[in-house]
Amino acid sequence: MYYFIEPMKEEDIPAVQQIEAQSFPIPWAASTYRRELRDTQRCRYLVARASPAPPPQGTSPAPPRRSGFLSQLFGAFMAQPVQPNVATSAPIVGYGGLWLSADEAHVTTIAVDPAYRRRGIGELLLNGLIDQAYELGARMITLEVRVSNDAAQRLYLKYGFTVVGTRRRYYTDNGEDALLMSIEALNDPAYRQRLNALRRQFYARLQRQA
Ligand SMILES: CC(C)(COP(=O)(O)OP(=O)(O)OC[C@H]1O[C@@H](n2cnc3c(N)ncnc32)[C@H](O)[C@@H]1OP(=O)(O)O)[C@@H](O)C(=O)NCCC(=O)NCCS
Repeated sequence: MYYFIEPMKEEDIPAVQQIEAQSFPIPWAASTYRRELRDTQRCRYLVARASPAPPPQGTSPAPPRRSGFLSQLFGAFMAQPVQPNVATSAPIVGYGGLWLSADEAHVTTIAVDPAYRRRGIGELLLNGLIDQAYELGARMITLEVRVSNDAAQRLYLKYGFTVVGTRRRYYTDNGEDALLMSIEALNDPAYRQRLNALRRQFYARLQRQA
């Protein structure tokens, strides 16, 4: 199976909401997604799709990218961003997003369809979001995660996030605390080197799975 990512479109929102309903206790309204998707200066949202065949590729070359990591390493696992409106029938199996505030990219959401977890889709999405953060010129990435959410914390730790604080009773559904995690220096050469190494390993895994 091929898993690939592409920009989220408004028509993707119902499928995204289905995954969200199985992943989070307090889902967003469709209008919240629409507002985020329309704020193209600050917000970036991605969907992951599953397909038995390689994803559709654009006919034009990809536009220049600040980091270019993802297109170099994951060419076969990305629909070309030059054709974001290409209709694809491959089902949506995950999604994620971030917004930029000054030089900080904040991951607002990330989730994978429960039936597709542990296949690298969360990792693919996180890689996509890190790439978007570079493209937006972010210096750091932050996010909140439930203290009980071991799976997500492990994903973030793998990609170099560290715990930098706690937000007491952050989640209104059960009063759970959030850990604040961040990658403090995206442009640090040591971090880029670590990211590249992780991406090479991950690319090999995706190829094996495909
Ligand atoms: C967190 C989530 C997005 C991970 O997606 P996924 O596709 O299952 O994760 P991947 O298969 O890409 O795993 C990547 C890494 O994450 C960690 N991980 C993911 N699931 C894990 C689990 N159940 N137990 C332990 N580690 C886990 C591992 O480090 C893994 O790397 P490895 O495969 O080398 O061990 C998914 O569990 C999910 O949607 N959870 C519900 C929504 C959510 O909690 N989102 C995060 C909000 S902060």
